[in-house]
Formats: sequence, structure tokens, C-alpha cells
Amino acid sequence: MGVVSSPMTSNSIEVAGLRKDFGSLRAVDNISFAVAEGEIFGFLGPNGAGKTTTQRLLTGVLRPTAGDIRIMGRDLRKDPVAAKRHVGVVPENANPYRDLSAWHNLMLMGRLYGMAKKRREQKALQLLEYFGLLDRRRAKTKTLSKGLNQRISLSMALIHDPRLLFLDEPTSGLDVESTRLIRRLIVDLNTRGVTVFLTTHDMQEAARLCDRVAIVCRGRIAAIDSPDALRADFSSAQSVEVAFEKPLRDPALLQELASVSGVRQEKGKYILFTDRPGEVACRVALLARERGLGLRSINTRAARLEDVFVHLTAAKGSGNGER
Ligand SMILES: Nc1ncnc2c1ncn2[C@@H]1O[C@H](COP(=O)(O)OP(=O)(O)O)[C@@H](O)[C@H]1O
Ligand SMILES: [Mg+2]
Repeated sequence: MGVVSSPMTSNSIEVAGLRKDFGSLRAVDNISFAVAEGEIFGFLGPNGAGKTTTQRLLTGVLRPTAGDIRIMGRDLRKDPVAAKRHVGVVPENANPYRDLSAWHNLMLMGRLYGMAKKRREQKALQLLEYFGLLDRRRAKTKTLSKGLNQRISLSMALIHDPRLLFLDEPTSGLDVESTRLIRRLIVDLNTRGVTVFLTTHDMQEAARLCDRVAIVCRGRIAAIDSPDALRADFSSAQSVEVAFEKPLRDPALLQELASVSGVRQEKGKYILFTDRPGEVACRVALLARERGLGLRSINTRAARLEDVFVHLTAAKGSGNGER
């Protein structure tokens, strides 16, 4: 199965042959991986890839159709309470109770975890201060912005000092300051030894924060590696998008330009994949002039996750199956 489960290595998460079907839809398709203790592990994929479903399986919200999950060395199915004791979770679109204040939400969570009053109050104050929420702690959360609510959700997930934290798109759609704070928190927690499972569709976020990243699409894992090792894949999925005034008789000319690794036609435009978009843009402009084609538009594009995934699966010949 390729999952490391030796008792010598301490993995916070071990997944073997995990699958989840919703009726005829296979949302998670036989994935196996392990996350070492102390890692920031990115689960990176486009919308609908199966990220949220995977997080919900790993946190015991959903039951797998097949496969095994071990969390902090415990079998999640056989021993769910022990497996989840040191786990914190921020689900997708997390929300504190709207009619309660940040303070009361935190006290409620602390009580759920059986924390003594003094300890939960101390911890709550510490978290509220970290997140810049001290002066708003008495306001009902429904009066606060999305960014502040997300900070409260994170505080709630951290009240019991978890050793493993699951975050589902924690910065998605947030203001700059909240995003910055949350990213700093992830790094701070990690320096204190907390393992982080970070679900995201943001390649930059994953590359910046994570020790290792799994690239997922259509319920499958296309690659797992360090951001440095994946960078070549990210960078060769950059592209130049060009439209000519006149039809190009011989599209093979584009493929033959230096530094072009692939060409795709899309709605009257050509997409030229390259790790050197600036250079390719110049060559295309020259070609257009030489051939008198006329340039209608030309743009360079950063790598898109979908394209990285296509590159990876094409290179490995694994394809996307018949789904
Ligand atoms: N409860 C559910 N019932 C049926 N289909 C679902 C359910 N949850 C998710 N899906 C489907 O599973 C696929 C993966 O969804 P999801 O895990 O939310 O992806 P992601 O978080 O990567 O955007 C999608 O096609 C989605 O529509
Ligand atoms: Mg999701």
C-alpha cells in the first residue's frame, strides 16, 4: 500500500486505501499517504478534488467506504475517542455560534474538552490576544466580519492545545490581515511541534507553508513531494496565451518554438506551456510579425493547478480514469 506504518516512525496520520463514494460518485479514490509528526502537510487541489471529503474522513465526520485511517497511532474506526483527543479541526466554512460572543464560544469548547475553568480562561485569553480579538471578545460573533469569525474558529480549534490540526481552506476569501495572521499562526504552531494538515486550492500558500504537498484531483493523488521538488512542475505549467488576427495555417510552428513544452487550443486562443513565459511571449510576437498574422492579444499566465495536475498525470501516464 506504500504507507509507512513502522512503529519506529511516528506518523500523525496514516491512510491506506481510503475511498469514499457518494452514490455513484467516487469522491475519494483509493488514496494512501502518511504525514510525519511535526510536518506541515499540504493537501492541494482544485474545487471538487475531494479535499473536504478527505478531511471529513480523517476527522471522523464521515465514514469511509473502504480503507484504514490511523490518527496519532490510533485506529480511527476502532478507537475514535483516543484518536481524536489531541486533534483540532477547522472545517470548511467554519462558524462559531452566531448568537454567542467569542468568549462564550471559547468557554463552550473548553468545557466540551473537559478543561478546568481556570485553564480554559487562561488559554482563551492567550488565543484572543494572539488573534487581536481581545477588545471584541464580548461581541456576538454575528456582528463580526468573516475574517474575525475565522480567527475565532481557529481559537476554538486550539483551546485544548491539540498536537494535530486540520484546516480546510482556512484563508479562502479572507481579508489580507486575517490571512497573514492565520499563516503566521500555522508557522508558529509548527515551530512548537504541532502537525498541520492544510487543505488548500492556493498553490502559493501550499508552496510557502508546507514541508510536503499532495496534489489531488478527482479523488486521486497525482504527486506527493516537497514544494521545491514540485516547483519544476509548477513552473513548467506557466503559459503564454495568444490570439492572432489571422488564422494560423500551421499550428505546429508554435510547438516548435524554443522553450515551449506543449500547446493547447482554447476558444480561438493558443495556450503555450513553458517555464519561460517572457521569452516565449517575445518569440510569439516575432513569429506573428514574420508571418503577418497580427496579434490580437498576448498574455502570460501563472501556473494553474489544473494545468499542473494535467502535466503530472500526463507525465506519469496515469490519466484521470473514466470518470
Ligand atoms: N455529502 C455529499 N454528497 C454527495 N456528493 C458530495 C458530498 N460531499 C461532496 N460531494 C462531491 O464530492 C466531490 C468532492 O467534493 P469535496 O470533497 O467538497 O471537494 P473539494 O473540497 O476538493 O472542493 C464533489 O464532486 C462534490 O460534489
Ligand atoms: Mg472543499
